[in-house]
Amino acid sequence: MNAQSLLHALETVVGPAGIVCDPEQMASYLSDWRNAYRGAAALVVRPATTEQVAAVVQICHAHRVALVPQGGNTGLCGGSIPDDSGTQVVLSLTRMTRIREIDTANETITVEAGVLLQHLQEAAAAVDRLFPLSLGAQGSCTVGGNLATNAGGTAVLRYGNMRDLALGLEVVLPDGRIWNGLRGLRKDNTGYDLKHLFIGSEGSLGIITAAVLKLYPAVRSITTAWVALPDARSAVELIGSIRALCGDRLTGFELMSRQSVDFVLRHVGRCSDPFAEVHPWYVLIELSDTQPDAPLNDLLEAGLGAALERGWVLDAVLAGNEAQVAALWAMREGISEAQNHEGPSLKHDISVPVSRIPAFIERTDEALLERFPGVRIVAYGHVGDGNLHYNVSKPPGSDDDAFKAQQAAISEIIYAATAALDGSISAEHGIGQAKRDAARRYKDPLELELMRALKRTLDPEGLMNPGKVF
Ligand code: FAD
Ligand code: MLT
Ligand code: ZN
Repeated sequence: MNAQSLLHALETVVGPAGIVCDPEQMASYLSDWRNAYRGAAALVVRPATTEQVAAVVQICHAHRVALVPQGGNTGLCGGSIPDDSGTQVVLSLTRMTRIREIDTANETITVEAGVLLQHLQEAAAAVDRLFPLSLGAQGSCTVGGNLATNAGGTAVLRYGNMRDLALGLEVVLPDGRIWNGLRGLRKDNTGYDLKHLFIGSEGSLGIITAAVLKLYPAVRSITTAWVALPDARSAVELIGSIRALCGDRLTGFELMSRQSVDFVLRHVGRCSDPFAEVHPWYVLIELSDTQPDAPLNDLLEAGLGAALERGWVLDAVLAGNEAQVAALWAMREGISEAQNHEGPSLKHDISVPVSRIPAFIERTDEALLERFPGVRIVAYGHVGDGNLHYNVSKPPGSDDDAFKAQQAAISEIIYAATAALDGSISAEHGIGQAKRDAARRYKDPLELELMRALKRTLDPEGLMNPGKVF
């Protein structure tokens, strides 16, 4: 089928409003926000209903046209960007934005794949509930993308990642059949739990069109602190002691190196250092409770006071009002954007057992700086999950292309250190195209074989997001 007849066939399904084929209008679908990945496509199709998604997939399946599912296009490993052949079709879910049902008696919400994470959070808040997934891209990323990447973020410590928040899915399979698994059951042991196949599959097994998700009680008290630490080892000690004291009230514990904070102070407006002195490491701690007026400040002050005496904490400040809370989170959430202003960078989102984070940082810093002196290590992340964003920016003033030529060797040092400490080369962003080759080297061969067998079973023609994950 040539491009023109494909366009006509798809247009009969989605109407002119559902087709983007003008090169200028297609551009934003063909590269990511960092401009790290670029591709080409025959066209972009934007169905508005599950039935339209199914009809689009059937047409593409019949004519052996490969599909690249795309949500908010905020992914960090090139998973939503087509290859450069110009033959693939980008299937954007951004018109599927209905909240289908809110069921407060069963504490569930049923939403379509294109709903923005922030709109989902707002819909939950409107019925006095919490949808806890929380990440810097929440104003732009979609529920479908969150599910397809099994997104993590800053509240995993307390509520788990997207996999833990999903009860049921609706999925269009690679041959165009619709699987309606939209059950809101907390318990269902009738065989394999198929939703978990699609969660984290990065669009390689089917198109997620809707989901039933868990709701939680609304939070009514929050305390946020910005804490300076002498080293990363102290962060591990501190999280253990705060967790022992506060239990599930500990909802956020984000680690940041001074380099990360420096970038934010340099590039993100309205951020200022809460301390007069410069410190090597920081953590942002959040406690929350469903009770209004819970004594969270007292609890956190007691925990930080004890840590200060043991030398794990150098200084600490508690946010006094909502504006200060927002300012502290802006420092943390601003790191991605700030790093973008410093030229080409390499992103890594490794995880190791929490207790090994200090060893990972010590060993990797040493190995990296010995081989690539001058690179800037931007280490930060969700330390309670053992998840570190060990990003690397080029040496200041150095040539962009020279740095790009070193990227594979830089990543290899980081992945080797991760593997040596029994970690994972992707804790939350996924494999996409960025880590596909590394996954071949670092993932257990039997696991890869089982994954390929599942891929062949569900997508024998290999039309779902080819070139990603495998
Ligand atoms: P996209 O980028 O459009 O797609 C991501 C992948 O999912 C692709 O492989 C795509 O093919 C597939 N996909 C998308 N929609 C569907 C669908 N409906 N069905 C099947 N497959 C689909 N991630 C975290 O986990 N934690 C963080 O803390 C975090 N912070 C971030 C901060 C910033 C500033 C930015 C820019 C990104 C951050 N991310 C984070 C990464 C990103 O936001 C998440 O991966 C998010 O879940 C992607 O959602 P999306 O809708 O943008 O998906
Ligand atoms: C974050 O936690 O800020 C993102 O997942 C990491 C990143 O943008 O590198
Ligand atoms: Zn993250």
